[in-house]
Amino acid sequence: MFRTNTCGELRLSDQGKEVTLAGWVQRARKMGGMTFVDLRDRYGITQIVFETEDNPMLAEAANHLGREFVVQVKGVVAERTSKNPQLPTGDIEIIAKELTVLNPSEVPPFTIEDESNGGDDLRMRYRYLDIRRTPVRRNLELRHQMTMEVRRYLDSKGFLEIETPMLVGSTPEGARDFVVPSRMNPGQFYALPQSPQTLKQLLMVSGVDRYFQIVKCFRDEDLRADRQPEFTQIDCEMSFVEQNDIIELFEGMAKHLFKVIRGVELTEPFQRMPWADAMKYYGSDKPDLRFGMRFVELMDVLKGHGFSVFDNAAYIGGICATGAAHYTRKQLDALTEYVKRPQIGAKGMVYARVEDNGNVKSSVDKFYSQETLQQMAAAMDAKPGDLILILSGDDVMKTRKQLCELRLEMGRQLGLRDKDKFACLWVVDFPMFEWSDEEQRLMAMHHPFTHPKDEDIPMLDTDPASVRADAYDMVINGVEVGGGSIRIHDSALQAKMFEILGFTPEKAQEQFGFLMNAFKYGAPPHGGLAYGLDRWVSLFAGLDSIRDCIAFPKNNSGRDVMLDAPACLDQKQLDELNLALTEPKKK
Ligand code: AMO
Repeated sequence: MFRTNTCGELRLSDQGKEVTLAGWVQRARKMGGMTFVDLRDRYGITQIVFETEDNPMLAEAANHLGREFVVQVKGVVAERTSKNPQLPTGDIEIIAKELTVLNPSEVPPFTIEDESNGGDDLRMRYRYLDIRRTPVRRNLELRHQMTMEVRRYLDSKGFLEIETPMLVGSTPEGARDFVVPSRMNPGQFYALPQSPQTLKQLLMVSGVDRYFQIVKCFRDEDLRADRQPEFTQIDCEMSFVEQNDIIELFEGMAKHLFKVIRGVELTEPFQRMPWADAMKYYGSDKPDLRFGMRFVELMDVLKGHGFSVFDNAAYIGGICATGAAHYTRKQLDALTEYVKRPQIGAKGMVYARVEDNGNVKSSVDKFYSQETLQQMAAAMDAKPGDLILILSGDDVMKTRKQLCELRLEMGRQLGLRDKDKFACLWVVDFPMFEWSDEEQRLMAMHHPFTHPKDEDIPMLDTDPASVRADAYDMVINGVEVGGGSIRIHDSALQAKMFEILGFTPEKAQEQFGFLMNAFKYGAPPHGGLAYGLDRWVSLFAGLDSIRDCIAFPKNNSGRDVMLDAPACLDQKQLDELNLALTEPKKK
């Protein structure tokens, strides 16, 4: 038998047992007449002791063990004299009787312990070694637990797990596609799916009724901490449902996951907030509701007092940071610099403190009377000891987004974004379309298959920009963890949607004919949702980046530094694929 036990298993109750363990040498150290080895496997660490007096040859062999050697050890379980309460196996050690080196190891490029000395890039290059570290492995274990639980839950609700193809056609809406040349169809390309959206809708036409898939999706977009070019969705679709049915079922799943995975009982229904309110009060379609600091619009109070910055603004808005009047000039200057960074783009920031005696002291006192400043404080419900921060600008949406960044930063600085606290909500009633400056046309905000709200359908002809959609996102702690919509199931309405999006009937037929044709054969009313699995796992594990819960992620330039991908193709492969490169090959 290779091993009788794992390295995480043995306890004081096993004292006296003869055991065989196998694993990696995390660390070996010689102390007096003994050599101690921390032997590690997926399940934990067990201390092995080699005693020079009893067995000098064996102890000598142990002294030659390097980090990450793979070894098998036979020995007897004994109580430790100096126990280690940090380790589940910390009460015992194994007195070694035999040692077999199964495979030596070169010195690893970084220390493989909970705290590693390897930088990000190095750890990614040797990700297979990084995964030996407990914190990384735990994230993968959590991910596994989540997918198992999701499968169990959806199966219990009658969902069928069905795979859809990875080689599909390119679609013009949404993010950029990753494309794959077809050798057998020269000059033609597949695309990797951005999501199985149209295919799951076709499965509803097929009568599948309830579908799900834990599925890789691919999007060629700029990367951020919560975005990877390939990521995993828990993708779902249901027939004969209304928005509320979907929201209830998937809120139920979220609550179930919170309970089973995190031990958090969420009893209240999740708040539902119209998109327009989310933008108005938080400047974001994914507000972090772990803390307040709602925006208060101050146009009426602060405009027209001779302060030209405000007088010329299309929007003036403030947030009130409770108890933060102690912020020093230096801290406020740093906040001003923060919002002026090019990524945020504010021109400046105005602040006001409510002093203990109720007086309001602001950075623009020379333009405003105490009376006006009091009006402002009252509008913001600011109390003595509070700090008011104000931004203004000539573009309402842009300024709200800047104020959103300021709000999040203040929340962070004041310790209000606690990773063990969860604020869940549904953002509903998204606009159907958004204007694209780049394309100079309306684009679907969610996707072109989303159903408009019934009461807004007449506006499709008169004022399409104001039409709201039956679309909803689930947002937790400021992260969009899922989104979906009720779909159009009628080919005439779908054709109208494509027309508004600027497709000619021919182009719509060429791109989406397969779907519109399918809808002619009895498409049931349907809708669905997709959760971002990577984001859920990160949320539950308290990670800053979804990279940390993906076994082999890409870096910020979209590269897999371990596989060194993407890479150039050799000429033979290019020829086979009928591809000619126009740019000189870059390496
Ligand atoms: P959407 O584009 O909102 O909807 O995606 C659903 C969820 O997937 C996650 N997500 C991502 N996670 C990591 N990296 C990315 N690049 C990334 N992009 C999205 C988010 C998001 O909420 N077909 C629709 C769903 C539907 O309507 O049913 C769709 O793909 O958590």
